[in-house]
Amino acid sequence: MMTEQITESRQLEISRRAALAGMGGLAVMGTALSTGLLGAAPAAAEPIVAEPSANGSPPLPKPRPGADERKISSLLRRMTLAEKLGQLQLVNTPDLARQALSTTPCGGVFSVVGAATLNSLQHQAVEQTRLGIPLIFGLDVIHGYTTNFPIPLGQASSFDPAVATTDATVSAAEARRSGITWTYAPMMDVTHEPRWGRIAEGDGEDPYLASQMAVAKVQAYQGSDYSAGDKLAACAKHFVAYGGTEGGRDYNTVDVSISELHNHYLPPFKAAVQAGVATLMASFNAVAGVPAHANSYTIRQVLKGSYHFDGFVVSDYTGIHELINHGVAGNGADAAAAGITAGVDMEMVSTDYFDNAVQLLAQHRITEQQIDDAVRRILRVKFALGLFDNPYVDETGEVTAVSPAARAQARSTAGRSIVLLKNDNSLLPLKKSARVALIGPLAKATFDLNGTWSGLGTGAGTTAPVTVFDGISANASNVSYAPGCDIESSDTSQFAAAVATARGADVVVLALGESAAMSGEASARSNIDLPGVQADLLAAIVATKKPVVVVLFNGRPLTLQSTHDTATAIVEAWAPGVEGGNAVADVLYGKVNPGAKLPVSFPRAVGQVPIYYNHLNTGRPADPNNKYTSKYLDLPSGPLYPFGFGLSYTTFAINNLRLSSGRLSRRGGKITVSADVRNTGSRSGDEVVQLYIHDPVASLAQPVRRLRGFSRVTLAPGQTKTVKFTLGTDDVGFYDNNARFLVEPGQIEVYVGSSSEATLTATFTVT
Ligand code: NOJ
Repeated sequence: MMTEQITESRQLEISRRAALAGMGGLAVMGTALSTGLLGAAPAAAEPIVAEPSANGSPPLPKPRPGADERKISSLLRRMTLAEKLGQLQLVNTPDLARQALSTTPCGGVFSVVGAATLNSLQHQAVEQTRLGIPLIFGLDVIHGYTTNFPIPLGQASSFDPAVATTDATVSAAEARRSGITWTYAPMMDVTHEPRWGRIAEGDGEDPYLASQMAVAKVQAYQGSDYSAGDKLAACAKHFVAYGGTEGGRDYNTVDVSISELHNHYLPPFKAAVQAGVATLMASFNAVAGVPAHANSYTIRQVLKGSYHFDGFVVSDYTGIHELINHGVAGNGADAAAAGITAGVDMEMVSTDYFDNAVQLLAQHRITEQQIDDAVRRILRVKFALGLFDNPYVDETGEVTAVSPAARAQARSTAGRSIVLLKNDNSLLPLKKSARVALIGPLAKATFDLNGTWSGLGTGAGTTAPVTVFDGISANASNVSYAPGCDIESSDTSQFAAAVATARGADVVVLALGESAAMSGEASARSNIDLPGVQADLLAAIVATKKPVVVVLFNGRPLTLQSTHDTATAIVEAWAPGVEGGNAVADVLYGKVNPGAKLPVSFPRAVGQVPIYYNHLNTGRPADPNNKYTSKYLDLPSGPLYPFGFGLSYTTFAINNLRLSSGRLSRRGGKITVSADVRNTGSRSGDEVVQLYIHDPVASLAQPVRRLRGFSRVTLAPGQTKTVKFTLGTDDVGFYDNNARFLVEPGQIEVYVGSSSEATLTATFTVT
């Protein structure tokens, strides 16, 4: 049993105040709840307490000293109230922007592309408005602008932040050279929900992996100075706990404890802020009944207070006005008051701030200080983007075609993101001489290989990805093709031709999965099996007794039990991007030895959801021999494929686990964990060595495993490398339900291996 607790210096303001007040943290949180700290929307009839400190929020941060801050101050002094409110408005069409610029300039425009169009709007803003404040141009550059990389869930599978760096470096350069200055990425919503379509846009179920990928993206989008002509302001989204959506239905309610919020959902955002992310986007969901757009606790207290975030928070699309539907605002004025009070600085699409702020100020429901702070934050990012000095883009540099260099990077990152799930009899890699029957609704798919959000995005400007057919045909001379069925229809009339095609070949490659539109925003599925009649097509092909390689294209984990039981090999390609067909062929023919791992558990059946590796043990952990334990009667416990799992064409042994010490001091101690990884097969390949910890006895039940380190290493046959990880108090501590970060004395178990089911173990003691 732990005997003592210490609270780290980074503990949140709330616990400091609790200590000062001599009260237990829970008592303080109770006070916070009753004073509206978690809920920022007071009844319309009551005035909002004007001073942020009076409603429990910490004081607004002091502006950073420096030349830009002085320029911002001087600009703010010259701005009328209407001009300030204009800066808080984000619009999404050129017409709305032109209209605003001819009366009261808006702050930015998004989802508009084309260097000439953007320049013409910027000319109007800079040359034809009273103060000439430049516009910021936003776009969802999620996994590519001109060049489409694998979807973020695929990139997370690489367990290689360099993959995220490559995408963000190329995307930032292409977008900035085309006039875009602000990307709505990275998305870092940790989730346990494969039904949720937006799982495709993030890094899966683990906060540590998500933090590593988020930091890599922020640093690559922004560089050290995002005024550079090839960098963008990034936007960490969606703040916060959007991935906890009930039932996996998009935009749905979330209800999490304070500890879960801080341990599970907030870490990537905290890491992104520490990496200097310029902006954040509020999420559509409510947490504990408080919509994110009205949440003073998460935005004012945690983000702008504890994390000292000094950029700006943008609403999501009509997120402010949706406070009415949420039921915390009676009208647009209430919605604006709630959003401004909570600390959402810029309003996307809806216009409640602009329409109501004058009246709200007169009624003392918001303050000028709040408006000035929001404007200052927006101007701060515009100055950091260099827009006051260089508002225009050189139209001759616009990037409208995929360059050979970017294409090569798209291909290599896709190869690093493909996961090998099964490979019986070493069917893969294929021999080039094998006669291949390429079957399936995705065998000749183009844009579906891009997945959700694809750069210029809406058609005409986007380059069609290389098909699997073309990728395989570049490697093998004898390739026959039959679609077999459509992605979603129930029509089986093409099965017979597909079966005949299979019969004439040595091996079948079956390209199955989802269309691009089946994942992403507003694309929840209640059934996550292969869609349509694809599982029946697989069964018909398996009946030919030919060896079958299933190649999957999907934006979420699917339920693959029958696929696993019947296919000879399974390759998870996600939505691999513009070089998709070539990247798949690289893996099928062994040019690339797959080394990626699953960033999310694959359930056996949808009824198991949520299923995730970092769960609590419960009082009755699953035991197949004891009915009265936590499990289903009709399924084995655990997922079909666990988090961190993935095969290779070679084999590895991980052993010789050692710790630099058996003790870790709570006062800044560090411990080094090392293990040797050896390639025991006959091909060069990659292994991802993963480090997990478990705290078996704590004041708050801890996950059975928590990822705290990973390293993807390439090894020649017979080669051994030593992998080292450093663990410190940040790794072994956790947040409690008072949002205090605790590092408790006692034992910590360490596990090292090739998936979340690693068995190599050691222990040390936190003292
Ligand atoms: C709504 C989505 O939730 C968000 O991720 C996106 O950035 C905005 N629309 C803007 O397109």
